[in-house]
Amino acid sequence: MKPSKKKKIVLFSGAGISAESGIQTFRDSNGLWEQHKLEDVATPEAWKKDPDLVTRFYNERRKQIMEVMPNSAHEAISKLEESLDVSIITQNIDDLHERAGSTNIIHLHGNIRYSKSSGPDQESQYYPIDGWQLTESDKCPRGYRLRPHVVWFGEDVPAYETAAIEISSADILIVVGTSLQVHPAAGLINFASTNAQKFIVDPNADQLVVPPDFQKINKGASQGIIDLIKILT
Ligand SMILES: NC(=O)c1ccc[n+]([C@@H]2O[C@H](COP(=O)([O-])OP(=O)(O)OC[C@H]3O[C@@H](n4cnc5c(N)ncnc54)[C@H](O)[C@@H]3O)[C@@H](O)[C@H]2O)c1
Repeated sequence: MKPSKKKKIVLFSGAGISAESGIQTFRDSNGLWEQHKLEDVATPEAWKKDPDLVTRFYNERRKQIMEVMPNSAHEAISKLEESLDVSIITQNIDDLHERAGSTNIIHLHGNIRYSKSSGPDQESQYYPIDGWQLTESDKCPRGYRLRPHVVWFGEDVPAYETAAIEISSADILIVVGTSLQVHPAAGLINFASTNAQKFIVDPNADQLVVPPDFQKINKGASQGIIDLIKILT
């Protein structure tokens, strides 16, 4: 007899899943990111205008991320790998899914623990950052200054297609901690199959616009994910 295929679960996460670890989201702080306007720190124009400010901003984010711990939501998702085929698509630039032990993760918007060249056409090479600080003198082999490995507003999302394929093959899709306001990432939920079971976990789920076949779970990430996993496994 053939062994039965494990169900495939895709988790699509946003800043809200890391809120209970102590990392601020965007929407909960009036569209500012740690008191900064997005256009001053998270656009290619900001880098052109003031690379030192942008570098300092992400150094602070990296330092904070390194000081916090994954929470029960990250941990419960990691444990799911024991019984299901789990794939994570995260909009987060933190590495809390990895540190909780999850292994199959697509970082749509990059990973702050890495850098990449700010020169032209070298975007696919990523360099791990030792510690929390990237400095002006950190350069790629071709001599261009290194910038954080994050996708800024107005830039392409290279992992989008791979993420869409993952979502389209999910038996179960769980969306957690995202306002679904950042595009094109938000549109990924539309690639889910009509047969997939779909859930959205968010304390404000009631106010979020999702297709009608999504079940809304109006809870914070930890409680919401733990309750949902009990139902699914
Ligand atoms: N941790 C991070 O890496 C981080 C933090 C801030 C911003 N960002 C970047 O900013 C963009 C923001 O878009 P977004 O949609 O991910 O976030 P967002 O800030 O737009 O929305 C956050 C969502 O999380 C929900 N939320 C708040 N507390 C929660 C909790 N305890 N449990 C579950 N959900 C909770 C809010 O109701 C909201 O819907 C992302 O693309 C990301 O790259 C990343």
